[in-house]
Amino acid sequence: MRVLSVKNYDELSKAAARYMAAQLTLKPDSVIGLATGSTPVGMYKELIRMNQSGEIDFSEVISVNLDEYKGLAGDHPQSYRYFMNDNLFKHVNIFADNTFLPDGQIEDDLQACQDYDDVIDCVGPIDMQLLGIGHNGHIGFNEPADAFTTGTQCITLDERTRQANARFFDGDMSQVPAKAYTMGIGSIMKAKKILLVVTGAEKAEILDKALNGPVTPSVPASILQLHPDVMVIADEAALGI
Ligand code: PGA
Repeated sequence: MRVLSVKNYDELSKAAARYMAAQLTLKPDSVIGLATGSTPVGMYKELIRMNQSGEIDFSEVISVNLDEYKGLAGDHPQSYRYFMNDNLFKHVNIFADNTFLPDGQIEDDLQACQDYDDVIDCVGPIDMQLLGIGHNGHIGFNEPADAFTTGTQCITLDERTRQANARFFDGDMSQVPAKAYTMGIGSIMKAKKILLVVTGAEKAEILDKALNGPVTPSVPASILQLHPDVMVIADEAALGI
């Protein structure tokens, strides 16, 4: 595992975009695993700039996202499909048909999970998986648990995650869906490379546990210690510097 320390969020966004841009330059038909949340937004802005200035090309890229709220349609402003369209896809030359997220509208959990595992099997292996980390150590929506997940799961979101995400629902917890579909940790670990981006002092304690603590499903991100090719890009606040 390599850890790149950068000064602040702006530098983090640029460094993470450069890292992904290098991947797309080396392998233009990369399969990239993408993430939502606040942390990657600056990186996505930088990737958009690089695409629009001709530095990188998404025309052969396939993307698979980590997760989606159960019950939200893709045109719901808080769905992760909407987020990805808004923050990246509609601004770059990626083909919409090459972008995949779990389908939040499938009612039957087993069906939704099987469908997404089929997508991952079909387009994979993932060349580079982008991750953020939740305050509880989650990756994707894989919340702290008694065991690491393998394939796609229907997860009951924990209270802390719903509180953190209420900011996107006008601060109204009751609007935050109770469940989500998430790529499993087994699938994340099969990615050839992993890029973890972390910002802010409020993530310092959990990042330290993930990087330096015991590998345990009660801190899902700690499993990354066992992956052979992880790059962590974190700002000084997140690294407690
Ligand atoms: P954040 O979310 O980037 O909005 O902090 C990260 C996560 O919950 O995985």
